[in-house]
Amino acid sequence: MRKARILGSGMYLPGRLITNADLEAIKELDTSDEWIQQRTGIKVRRYVSDGESGVDMAEHACRQALENARLTRDEIEFIIYATMSPDYFLPGNGCFLQDRLFPHRTVGALDVRNQCSGFIYGLTVADSLIRANLYDYILLVGTEVHSTGLDFTREGRDVTVLFGDGAGAVVLGPAPDGHAGVIASALHSEGKFARELWLEFPASACNPRISHDIIDQGRHYPKMNGRVVFKHAVTRMVEVSHEVLAKAGKEIGDVDLFLPHQANLRINQMVAAQLGIPAAKMVNTIEWTGNTTAATIPICMCEAVTQGKLKENDLLLLTAFGAGFTWASVLLSW
Ligand SMILES: CC(C)(COP(=O)(O)OP(=O)(O)OC[C@H]1O[C@@H](n2cnc3c(N)ncnc32)[C@H](O)[C@@H]1OP(=O)(O)O)[C@@H](O)C(=O)NCCC(=O)NCCS
Repeated sequence: MRKARILGSGMYLPGRLITNADLEAIKELDTSDEWIQQRTGIKVRRYVSDGESGVDMAEHACRQALENARLTRDEIEFIIYATMSPDYFLPGNGCFLQDRLFPHRTVGALDVRNQCSGFIYGLTVADSLIRANLYDYILLVGTEVHSTGLDFTREGRDVTVLFGDGAGAVVLGPAPDGHAGVIASALHSEGKFARELWLEFPASACNPRISHDIIDQGRHYPKMNGRVVFKHAVTRMVEVSHEVLAKAGKEIGDVDLFLPHQANLRINQMVAAQLGIPAAKMVNTIEWTGNTTAATIPICMCEAVTQGKLKENDLLLLTAFGAGFTWASVLLSW
């Protein structure tokens, strides 16, 4: 059976740099640079400017990924778009991106809603479609605009300081003979923890979907039980990394580079320590991006390329955990 590989990656971070000092200056938020750095490792994150959308960022990231893959837009046959913060609830961002990148022809576009695991879910779908010979070249993009939906008061400070906006994309295509491509993947969800990190409103489960009362109560902002998320993230990221390695018949020592989701530097340090992966074999971007959810893994990939940490045929372990709860891992050859 043929295999799929990543041919190129791209990323985009919006221009508004928000430091911890900027957040500290918002009195109602009641936070500090010291608290944020100590608990999360984050120093700065980026926010979109007024009028700038997820699809705007996706377009930049995709153009860069195409350039790095040395492909033209004409060769792309399918779009997979992962985000938990779509520009609009109807239709999904995939259609808007199709119009931006391919205004003169139609292209299938699939929207993926798996939060921080969204990119790895999307990667697994892209791999399957290429293996099944349905398509040759697929554009996979993850974007997130968090900043327009955060609670900048003390009530929301635990969530607000963590997140940043951004986009990351890759182009996938058939791997040449002898290249291992995407080797194995493992996907999980456990909905009994859905309410430990969620955004309740607007909700089609309620009529009306939103009201003035709900807004007054701040129930249109994301809510999180940070300690529960932290504990599960460490356990599940270690577990699923071992699972995907076992599926591929590989061991931790075979991994050349580990790209974990970026939710909290302390989570990643604990995961790496439990897996026995040295710091030199891991890339972290959280210090300067915050948590960019579905955009995180491709942003890390771009950073690994920039740092010269990725060589042809290197074994790459991607692992993520997020709301749902969902968690996932992919092992691939670069
Ligand atoms: C959010 C997180 C950083 C909080 O760190 P923590 O050490 O667990 O802190 P706690 O939630 O126990 O809160 C400790 C104190 O800090 C306070 N606090 C919370 N957020 C704060 C902030 N931004 N600034 C200042 N103080 C804050 C709390 O109110 C609490 O105060 P109290 O002791 O007076 O009640 C941590 O739980 C975490 O990273 N969880 C996982 C988050 C995550 O991964 N989310 C995305 C999933 S992909």
